[in-house]
Amino acid sequence: MKHLLSIEAMDTASIETILENATVIKAQHGDSQHQPLAGQTWAMIFTKSSTRTRVSFEVGIRELGGSVMFLNANDMQLGRGEPIADTARVLGRMVHGAVIRTYTQSDVEDFAEHSAIPTINALTDAEHPCQILTDIFTYQELRGPIAGKVVTYIGDGACNVPISWIWAAGKLGFELRIAAPKAHQPCPDLIAKAGGNIVVTEDCHAAAEGADLLYTDVWVSMGKESETAQREQDFDGYQINQPLIDRANADALVMHCLPAYRGKEIDEPTLETHANTIFTQAENRLHTQKAILNWLVN
Ligand code: CP
Ligand code: NVA
Repeated sequence: MKHLLSIEAMDTASIETILENATVIKAQHGDSQHQPLAGQTWAMIFTKSSTRTRVSFEVGIRELGGSVMFLNANDMQLGRGEPIADTARVLGRMVHGAVIRTYTQSDVEDFAEHSAIPTINALTDAEHPCQILTDIFTYQELRGPIAGKVVTYIGDGACNVPISWIWAAGKLGFELRIAAPKAHQPCPDLIAKAGGNIVVTEDCHAAAEGADLLYTDVWVSMGKESETAQREQDFDGYQINQPLIDRANADALVMHCLPAYRGKEIDEPTLETHANTIFTQAENRLHTQKAILNWLVN
């Protein structure tokens, strides 16, 4: 039984298989008769908001021949205290796979263990693995192999998105630089455990020097809304803008997982100049989710 719970738990060969398959799936989009989910029903259990992840999985499951059921976790007995393990044991007897967005990583892992159906982490506080697979797919589609390149992440270095980047760096052989204020840097133990070539700094400009990809995410992740005022102070200056891009390689890409908050982690002119890359990245969520689903059921 395969699951996609984190980049941490993935081996390099599986990541490469998904990325290669995403290329084929994108090229055949609209033409393919391949329906590996025919006759299956998948559940999507979401505790947090979503636009891209929800729509790309719903469309992707349908395009692969399956049916999909969206469940707002707050409308389930889960929201009234039913244990995740019991929820998993029930759904595991009724549906063929699950896509879960929630807070705690162990909830997704417990679901996978107790449901005995393929389970996908659609974002937790610990990781956003489907996003980072898409990001790497998009980089490689536009610029070729990511191995040996320099990826610079600017902003909240301790949230799910950079953590998935950290695990990917060691497995795929690129240099990762994270520029974040001291209070929002990833835990040193995590960096040591991930291995790979990773630099953590408070200096955005030094981190951007010669970069091949400049990447950012929101300053205030879902669940951190009560810290908004403090975070806006802490992250002041941790923005992708033209002076920062001027430090990077001439053909550097600018990417954002979205949603974007203009004037915070990225400025408006930069987002609009790089909109084609950023919205291709968003579109690629669909092709990569389909490659993930295909890998899980094969
Ligand atoms: N990037 C991303 O995961 O977007 P959503 O929160 O809209 O799913
Ligand atoms: N770090 C962000 C990612 C949103 C896609 C969050 O968790 O809200």
